[in-house]
Amino acid sequence: MFAFLIVYLSLLGIGAQHDAHNQTQIANDENGPLNRTEEDNGTIAKGFHDLAGIRSFLPDQEWKGRIIGGVEAWAHSWPWQVSLRLVTIPACGGAIIAPQWVLSATHCFKRFMFYRHNTAPFWTVLAGKHDLENPNEYCQQLVGVSKIMTHKDYFGKTKMHDVALVKLKTPLMFNQCVKPIELWMRPINLNKKCTVTGWGSTRENGPQANRLQEVNVTVLSTESCNNFYHGIVPATMFCAGEPEGGVDACQGDSGGPLSCYTGSKYELAGVVSWGVGCGRDHKPGVYTKAQVYFDWINEIIKGEEILSDDSGVVPQESCGQGEILTCRLDSGQATVYATSEGEGQVRSVMEACPNSWPWQVSLQSKGRHYCSGTLIHHHWVLAPQHCHCKATVDMVVLGVHDLRFMASQTIPVEEVFNFPNNRTFPLTADLTLIKLSVPAQFDTTITPVCLPDKDVTLDDSWSCVTTGWGFSKASPKLSGATLRQARLGLVNRTACKESWGEDLITDNLLCADSSGSVSCMGDSGAPLLCQKRKGVFYLFGLVTWGSPHCDVRTPAVFSQITAYHSWINGLTKEI
Ligand SMILES: *[C@@H]1O[C@H](CO)[C@@H](O)[C@H](O)[C@H]1NC(C)=O
Ligand SMILES: *[C@@H]1O[C@H](CO)[C@@H](O)[C@H](O)[C@H]1NC(C)=O
Ligand SMILES: *[C@@H]1O[C@H](CO)[C@@H](O)[C@H](O)[C@H]1NC(C)=O
Ligand SMILES: *[C@@H]1O[C@H](CO)[C@@H](O)[C@H](O)[C@H]1NC(C)=O
Ligand SMILES: *[C@@H]1O[C@H](CO)[C@@H](O)[C@H](O)[C@H]1NC(C)=O
Ligand SMILES: *[C@@H]1O[C@H](CO)[C@@H](O)[C@H](O)[C@H]1NC(C)=O
Repeated sequence: MFAFLIVYLSLLGIGAQHDAHNQTQIANDENGPLNRTEEDNGTIAKGFHDLAGIRSFLPDQEWKGRIIGGVEAWAHSWPWQVSLRLVTIPACGGAIIAPQWVLSATHCFKRFMFYRHNTAPFWTVLAGKHDLENPNEYCQQLVGVSKIMTHKDYFGKTKMHDVALVKLKTPLMFNQCVKPIELWMRPINLNKKCTVTGWGSTRENGPQANRLQEVNVTVLSTESCNNFYHGIVPATMFCAGEPEGGVDACQGDSGGPLSCYTGSKYELAGVVSWGVGCGRDHKPGVYTKAQVYFDWINEIIKGEEILSDDSGVVPQESCGQGEILTCRLDSGQATVYATSEGEGQVRSVMEACPNSWPWQVSLQSKGRHYCSGTLIHHHWVLAPQHCHCKATVDMVVLGVHDLRFMASQTIPVEEVFNFPNNRTFPLTADLTLIKLSVPAQFDTTITPVCLPDKDVTLDDSWSCVTTGWGFSKASPKLSGATLRQARLGLVNRTACKESWGEDLITDNLLCADSSGSVSCMGDSGAPLLCQKRKGVFYLFGLVTWGSPHCDVRTPAVFSQITAYHSWINGLTKEI
């Protein structure tokens, strides 16, 4: 993907002076000036799979309070652990398995049935929590519960099928303190050391712990487990504790996770179910074997998604509301100047405020940003065709500012619609519509941009901005991982044709100051956003080609979105 892009841009740069159609150039220019490869190691953002089960070790302001060698967990280092609260009382643990789903135990809810407190409105979920006594931890997320799905075959006497799903009213925002965990699907080896976490009491008859505790336990065979429990432990459960059958330390709350390390990440093997005392019974803890319930979990989650899709409540959000007040753009336009070594450098580019361009998405392949896209609809993203977005394998990452941290939504690409092109090179119509596999949920960090009508022309009453991620030698002072913004001046068609040649600058292109080129800003999918006075932002262009060296004079070229108005409308309405 990169190689093609690099070559594409380099070739077109050369094309300004020579022959833009010289295909033989393609193979020879792989190490062009835009070689981004490993230089840009900051731009690694993670998809769901990549972030699931990865512990965080944040700089810990509570370092002094940590019990060295003891059982208090490093704060926020088990980011899938949540506290389930009945009204405001911590009642059970749980593990985040999807943005809107927590896995826990059915007995957590059944025991409150008598008081009719087993229904969703009584419950809340606290994620990103370490110290329950501190009501305002900096990365906690408190979310209401919209539904509790207990297992219909749960049997209280034997604790059979002690697993439950809790649906949250709003999706959690994944970040360093809040992450999901995936299920352990392989056989669970005997003698494997796993970790149980929770806010359970730390000694017999002791009070609940305020800070999250962790204990290492060893997975025991069904036989040895049944020696302790007189043969009542079925294959849907397993025991873990001390191998000799001695005490295991006081464990966490019911419903909490038993997390096992695969060698690269943690996966959820068990849900704390019963027999879990504080060594009181000299018996190991018994866990619900999570993998047994894989299909049960998937069916519920999928079924719920279809339900909420059918509800037809697609709110008519406004478009183009970006750039929050506290975060003004630099008043100057981006410009290119040559250093004493003759290298092009851009000035007046600044880091954007987090989430102030809420339609800008990161297109990622294997967890790596390769282009930006622009959200225009719940289901649709526009991007340049030269980005070569791949259906089903690539991810659209939304609501992200710093690519090194978690985004609020990551959605697989369902389908890619390329505008038909007669020529493959240079593309006459460098535009692709990307369909998301599930609709993006709009919130303050995710909203679509406005699209201009087809007859709107960009005159002096508009002012424009470009935004993007990515590495460029021309803007070395800025991190490639955080979104950047710059005002961008337009270049009229006459002047643009003088630079690029009459034939290349067709009516479906727009030209802007050279600083808008990928070689200056670094992002192959950067949008050209324009507004009138303080109005909403419209997407007028997507960067297509420009100078390969970020030079002062060669205008940046953008696909003109108005030229594709009917194609975009046709596809997005029809499908
Ligand atoms: C294409 O470019 C190569 C290398 O710059 C040059 O040797 C060749 O003559 C060019 N071919 C055409 C058809 O312009
Ligand atoms: C570009 O990337 C290739 C392949 O990773 C590498 O071998 C080469 O040294 C890089 N060139 C530059 C100029 O960084
Ligand atoms: C990644 O970037 C950091 C700082 O930007 C640098 O210290 C580190 O060596 C880089 N790592 C690699 C593998 O390039
Ligand atoms: C649990 O085991 C891991 C890996 O073996 C170790 O790093 C950790 O310190 C242990 N935790 C406790 C509380 O003993
Ligand atoms: C593509 O080719 C068709 C038929 O040759 C022609 O009518 C059309 O104008 C061409 N389109 C572009 C964008 O060049
Ligand atoms: C186009 O821009 C050039 C350079 O800025 C300027 O000299 C020229 O007058 C402009 N032409 C039109 C038609 O505005």
